[in-house]
Amino acid sequence: MDTLRRFVSAGDRVLDAGAGPGRFTMELARIGASVVVADTSSVQLELNRAKLTEVGLATSVEGWVQADITDLSAFADGEFDAVVCFGGPLSYVLDRAEEALDELFRVVRGGGHLLLSVMSLIGSVAHVRYLISDLRAFGREAVQAVIDSGDLPPVMSGGHLAMHLYRWSELAELLRRHRCDIVAASSSGLAIGRLHNEMLAALAPDEREAVTDWAIHLAPEPGAIDMGEHIIVVVRKTA
Ligand SMILES: C[S@@+](CC[C@H](N)C(=O)[O-])C[C@H]1O[C@@H](n2cnc3c(N)ncnc32)[C@H](O)[C@@H]1O
Repeated sequence: MDTLRRFVSAGDRVLDAGAGPGRFTMELARIGASVVVADTSSVQLELNRAKLTEVGLATSVEGWVQADITDLSAFADGEFDAVVCFGGPLSYVLDRAEEALDELFRVVRGGGHLLLSVMSLIGSVAHVRYLISDLRAFGREAVQAVIDSGDLPPVMSGGHLAMHLYRWSELAELLRRHRCDIVAASSSGLAIGRLHNEMLAALAPDEREAVTDWAIHLAPEPGAIDMGEHIIVVVRKTA
């Protein structure tokens, strides 16, 4: 949310790619952006439309488009001021990440921003409770293979789609091969994301605000970028 508020302005035309049910679509609408929602899943698109309608923000959405981030041919070159691809769609395209980045960059205007988040490998390992239960359930070799390749199969993620867990060094290298400047990088879910549900529910509003502010403050530190659930990065397309 903090990253969206820093890099998207009222009046911007924004593609929310892999928008899912729309928690960030809503925030984009609240900022005053005009949003195009894209997702591969027709179910998610319907859910997004229903949620935006429920909270009275559907008028900020120009349209809901079924599209894959590896093929954004429904959109013209440079037609958006910003493209948001949060919550890991780039992790889900596995070894087609280069193609997806080509497409995401193609549709943003020169000087515009691409806001991305991917699942973090080191952040996942730092959830040591889960690491140990995976070690017991699947054995050392299977966990080692995930750490070496970054590829997490559905059987090890409770039935999610297969996904690629990134190291920040790997993502930065991938981005450097495109014509862009990295303008911000941070972790998400550094603090609140680590809490059990009961502890989260028991937090007083002022405690929650304090912990969130500290996490936002520390998340861009080089030592913190890999440590959350996701890695967030903002890149500017060179004009
Ligand atoms: C974990 S959800 C994140 C949703 C939302 N952006 C958020 O952060 O709350 C991932 C979404 O990406 C969509 N998705 C997965 N692969 C995709 C692809 N190749 N192109 C576009 N959307 C994709 C899924 O259908 C799902 O709605």
